[in-house]
Amino acid sequence: MSPSISAAQLQALQDSLLNSSGNVPLHDRFRSLFTLKSLKNEDAIKIISKGFQDPSALLKHELAYCLGQIKNTSALPVLESVLRNPSEDPMVRHEAAEAMGAISASHSIPILKEYLSDPDRSVRETCEIAIAKIEWDKTEEGAKNDETLKNETHIPLYTSIDPAPATSGLLAGAPRPGDVSQTDIDELRDQLLDKKRSLFERYRAMFALRNIGSPAAVDALAAGFSDDSALFKHEIAFVFGQLLSPHSVPCLVQILQNGSESDMVRHEAAEALGGIATPEVLPHLKEWVEREDAPVVVRESCQVALDMWEYENSGDFQYANGLETPEAITVA
Ligand SMILES: [Fe+2]
Ligand SMILES: [Fe+2]
Repeated sequence: MSPSISAAQLQALQDSLLNSSGNVPLHDRFRSLFTLKSLKNEDAIKIISKGFQDPSALLKHELAYCLGQIKNTSALPVLESVLRNPSEDPMVRHEAAEAMGAISASHSIPILKEYLSDPDRSVRETCEIAIAKIEWDKTEEGAKNDETLKNETHIPLYTSIDPAPATSGLLAGAPRPGDVSQTDIDELRDQLLDKKRSLFERYRAMFALRNIGSPAAVDALAAGFSDDSALFKHEIAFVFGQLLSPHSVPCLVQILQNGSESDMVRHEAAEALGGIATPEVLPHLKEWVEREDAPVVVRESCQVALDMWEYENSGDFQYANGLETPEAITVA
């Protein structure tokens, strides 16, 4: 159920998200975005859609992510126009395609197919995964999974709509780490790293390992950072941002510090570190928020991550502006 909100509050959220005054800090705009996302209604979709005029690729990719998570087909036209815009940042176009996969409308498939040969590798790989997801959602297993998720007695480990479902057998009601053997983890690791498999299948192993969540599963996921696909690596960092395991800190710090790593991967590492929020991550986030050679998206991610770090260490009950539950802190 979405929280109720007055017209004045809605206007204030819009003003904050769109930075109408010109001096709203980026992290406050993010908080407003997560509040809007939690409303899950047409008003929120309209306001979020207005943000695509902004110069910040980081903000815009988050807008696209939130539109996907709201899972309403009324967001499809704006997402399609973002994907179709060749001058838009590839990270934003990637997130638009992924959001189309999250919304899962059959009529998005031909549009996504048009971009399977996009000049940007992350965009075409996202389209490939999104098509496979929409098709999987229509299978018997997909329909059954959807029913489980809708069942009110089912308490999901993670509330996000993932770009791929966990490997069969590890879908809903994920097993506890104690129920999973090292052999199971090794098998999932092999599936994750097997380049002969489709990206969709490899993503399925990734989300299965996330659901297991033990240090051994984190190690298996971290092995994926040796891949040459920025998209694949950024998704592992995203999953680490959901898992919030201190065990993943060393490899995330290494990625943030690596100037030759793709911005998209470093951005996701920074935000994951902000969520994990242990004391040792703070100097790294501070370093990259200040460094002059930091790519804009990395610097802005560190700015948002520092806000997350402070929230996690403050004992505040709510991250978003007054309405959202703490789970919303997972950023894309
Ligand atoms: Fe992404
Ligand atoms: Fe992201």
